[in-house]
Amino acid sequence: MPEPIVYLNGEFLPLSEAKVPVLDRGFIFGDGVYEVVPVYGRKPFRMPHHLARLQHSLDGIGLANPHTDAEWSRLIDALCARQAFDDQSVYLQVTRGVARRDHAFPKDVRPTVFVMANPLPVPTREQVERGVAVITAEDNRWRRCDLKTTSLIGNVLMRQLAADAGAIETVMFRDGYLTEASASNVLVVLDGTIVAPPKDNLILPGITYDAAVEFAREAGMPVDLRPVRKEEALGADEMWLSSSTKEVLAVTTVDGRPFGGGTPGPVFRRLWQAFQAHKPRGG
Ligand code: PDD
Repeated sequence: MPEPIVYLNGEFLPLSEAKVPVLDRGFIFGDGVYEVVPVYGRKPFRMPHHLARLQHSLDGIGLANPHTDAEWSRLIDALCARQAFDDQSVYLQVTRGVARRDHAFPKDVRPTVFVMANPLPVPTREQVERGVAVITAEDNRWRRCDLKTTSLIGNVLMRQLAADAGAIETVMFRDGYLTEASASNVLVVLDGTIVAPPKDNLILPGITYDAAVEFAREAGMPVDLRPVRKEEALGADEMWLSSSTKEVLAVTTVDGRPFGGGTPGPVFRRLWQAFQAHKPRGG
C-alpha cells in the first residue's frame, strides 16, 4: 500500500515526511484541540456540526480558528480525494504552535494544523449483533470535558482500564451520575424512553449522540435528556455507546456481568436501522 498522504501547515505530503518541531505546544503541553469526522462513501458525516464543535473547542482554549468553515471543508475534501479507500476517519488537530516553553500563551505564533485520513474502523457485525463489554469507573477528569482537547491523558488511562479488562470502553460516573465513556457518549433506555445526560461541561457534546437523538425523535421514539443516576444507568433496560467510529453499539456486558439480558435490545435495533439509513445522506 502506498504511504498515506497527510496535510500539515499548508502542504500535502507523505506521512513519514510530516514533521513537527519538539517545541510544538501540542507536544509540550497537549495545548491543542482536535476533531474526528467519519466519511462514508467519500461523503463527510455532519461536517457542519464537527466544524461548529471545533470552533467551540478553539474558543474554549482561546485560540483563533486558522481557517473558515469553507476552507476546512475544501481542505478535508482535498485530503479525502487523495486516499485510496471510500470510508474514512478524518482526524484534524490544531495546536497553539511552536514557542519557547512557557505555560502562558506565546504572542504572534502560527498555529500548527495537521489533518490525516485513515480507513474508517466500522464496528464489526459481531459487535453490532452481540453487543460489547464495558467496565465502570469514577470519572476523575477535569471539568471541561465539553472541549475536545488533545490533552487526553485522563481518557487514555480510562480506556486502558477497559483494554486491560478485555472491554471496549470504560463508562464513567461523577458524584453518582452517569457522564460518558473514555471515547464515547453513553445513552440508556428506561421503560422504552431513550435517556442520556444533557450536554454540559462534564461530557463531550457528541456528534453521534446528537444524530442518534435526532434520528430517534424523527422515528417517534421518546427521548429524555436529563441527569442519569448511577443506579438508573446500571439498572437500565439497555445501554448504548455512541461515537464517530463506533456509530451506535449496544452494551451487553458491564463489569464482567451480562447486561440488558445479554443481547442488544429492541430499541437499539430500531435506532441502529435509522442510523444506517442516514449514513449515505451525510447525516
Ligand atoms: N472520540 N466522548 C468522548 C470523550 C470522545 O472522545 C468521543 C469521540 C465522544 C463521541 O463524540 P462523537 O460522536 O462526536 O465522535 C464522546 C473520538 C472518536 C476519538 O477521540 O477518537
